[in-house]
Amino acid sequence: MLSLDGIGKSYAGRVLFDDVSLRLVPGDRAGIVGPNGAGKSTLLAILTGAEPADHGTVSRTRGLTLGHLPQEILSAPDATVIGTALRPGEHLTALEAELHEIPEALERATDHAEQERLAARLADAHAEYDRLGGNHREVRARRILAGLGFRPGDEERPLRSFSGGYVMRAELARLLIDLPDVLLLDEPTNHLDLESVLWLQDFLAAYRGTLVLISHDRAFLSATTSSIVEVEGGKVTRYAGNYESYVRERAERRAQIEAAARNQERRIQETERFIERFRSKATKARQVQSRIKALEKEERITVAKEGPKVRFRFPQPARTSELALELSAVAKSYGDTKVYGALDFQLRRGEKTVLVGPNGAGKSTLLKLLAGALVPDAGERKLGLRVSTGYYTQHRQDMLDLERTVLDNAMACAREQGETFVRTLLGAFLFHGDDVKKKAAVLSGGEKSRLALAMMLLDPPTVLLMDEPTIHLDMASVDALIAALNEFDGALCFVSHDVHFIRHVARKVVRVEAGVVTEFPGDWEYYCWKRGAAALHPAAADVPAGSGGASGAETPATDVERSARGERAERRRAAEARQALAKRTRGLRDEIRTLEEAIEELEREKAGLAGDLADPETYKRPGPEVAELQRRYAEVEKALGERTDRWMAVQERLEEELAGEQD
Ligand SMILES: Nc1ncnc2c1ncn2[C@@H]1O[C@H](COP(=O)(O)OP(=O)(O)OP(=O)(O)O)[C@@H](O)[C@H]1O
Ligand SMILES: [Mg+2]
Repeated sequence: MLSLDGIGKSYAGRVLFDDVSLRLVPGDRAGIVGPNGAGKSTLLAILTGAEPADHGTVSRTRGLTLGHLPQEILSAPDATVIGTALRPGEHLTALEAELHEIPEALERATDHAEQERLAARLADAHAEYDRLGGNHREVRARRILAGLGFRPGDEERPLRSFSGGYVMRAELARLLIDLPDVLLLDEPTNHLDLESVLWLQDFLAAYRGTLVLISHDRAFLSATTSSIVEVEGGKVTRYAGNYESYVRERAERRAQIEAAARNQERRIQETERFIERFRSKATKARQVQSRIKALEKEERITVAKEGPKVRFRFPQPARTSELALELSAVAKSYGDTKVYGALDFQLRRGEKTVLVGPNGAGKSTLLKLLAGALVPDAGERKLGLRVSTGYYTQHRQDMLDLERTVLDNAMACAREQGETFVRTLLGAFLFHGDDVKKKAAVLSGGEKSRLALAMMLLDPPTVLLMDEPTIHLDMASVDALIAALNEFDGALCFVSHDVHFIRHVARKVVRVEAGVVTEFPGDWEYYCWKRGAAALHPAAADVPAGSGGASGAETPATDVERSARGERAERRRAAEARQALAKRTRGLRDEIRTLEEAIEELEREKAGLAGDLADPETYKRPGPEVAELQRRYAEVEKALGERTDRWMAVQERLEEELAGEQD
């Protein structure tokens, strides 16, 4: 048994918990839910003893073994994948100690009953050791690693050569191999792709120990837990039943409390009226006094307020060229592993594209190439006019300086905005008052994500590149992000395994597989439908895998067959229309290209001249030369203004043409 009794915990004067109790018995499967920063990870750390409580007691049955997967691991251990996975945890260490000690004790034992007891314990320990794979533990380890998405051959590679997500996977594998009495997992699905999530779900369903699991993933919670522990507003409340029944019961409890609060309010008002009316009547003095006392004693029922929600929007970016970002013939390899050979990829203004595909297909690599965070081995990356890219990574420690405060991190991104503005923006991301003085290192997982998002808004790019933006975010924050991205006019390209998020944001799907990208010019439903159709025509299809395949399978085959023929004719018509449109608008496109080239040239010249004019050395040159520089600067600026106006006008004409075509 593992339990908390009257636990209190504060950080820097802020009370996180005051009086929290929780009891876990063998076989419990508890899901912990609650908003970002509520204290879920802290609660887990207190349970394991990693974090001390300010008061209260933590009790743990002697010999009970625990395995804890923290929410984030900052650095990879210096070992191979298999070495990490086989590192013994509490459970195996305890077992090995027993297997060593019991035989020694047996030799020493003289009492018959004692010998029998020891022999039985030894047999149990052997049975348990066998259950963990015994001397074939490595075989079991390899199976678990494969389930969590490692590919054959990965096992011997050093963990440091993998991304942060894989470091978490290896640590998770280690715990699953150790099979402790209690597994405490802090958002384990954050670093998994859909297939591995399903694998983990099955694994946990078969696990007979005690499970304590923090997650924001509704489907995963439903499949793996049988009670829900809610952490919110300093309170920890347990609900029997799965996630759905928790949502229901919570609504009912809330309704009951609200009704009770209303009744109480009515009663209080009646009493107050009574007191008011008879206060001056001597005959009623006793009754009035007793009622005043009763009122003072009555404990008021408070209805917990719904917590504040994150609300924000991305500032509308400056107008960019239609072709915002382009990769041509890009090649990228990591050592011997070739990810892309000659990749062409284009991102257009206003496009909302999701990259999907199996694990390790190179989605994050493509995002990094687009962001310029990774330099291609060959080929070219070209930014459109006025395009700036912003790159949000799933490993926010790349974006945050963990040693600095929230405010300092944000101020480092601010351009001309002052501190007041920055504080207001941070407020919208729920960093209030002293919260901005916290060091980034102590922030909760979701708070780090919120800070990184806020920082992107301080230097708003015209092209957003986001790698798993929803991990660590609570459900309300994900919804706020969806709303903000839907209003954003710039281009967006992202990787996500959150189907709810993809469905509400993506308007185009790009499948990345084996170094090849396939475009699906429609939303998620369209992609699933196409993948379903493609499965019927294997010649034209790539092998269905992962999320797309799973959802595509829901489409009834007959519908797909029926529409396949009509769809071909439709495709031909669409292709003809596209060609006609391309011909009509060719002149406009050519003019846009010429203008963009001219503008770029002028901007370069302007920057050069501005540099000269800012240099004190320049003014030691003869007067007429300086005057000439100034004259040329004015001329360039004027030409730039004219070209830009013309460029905007032509762009608009082109857009009208394109829009007319869609009606
Ligand atoms: N050392 C510390 N100093 C100050 N504040 C801290 C410290 N450690 C944690 N906190 C704060 O305690 C609160 C609870 O953090 P915790 O990590 O437990 O939240 P959580 O519920 O797990 O959130 P998330 O869903 O974002 O992971 C957060 O507001 C966090 O900033
Ligand atoms: Mg947490």
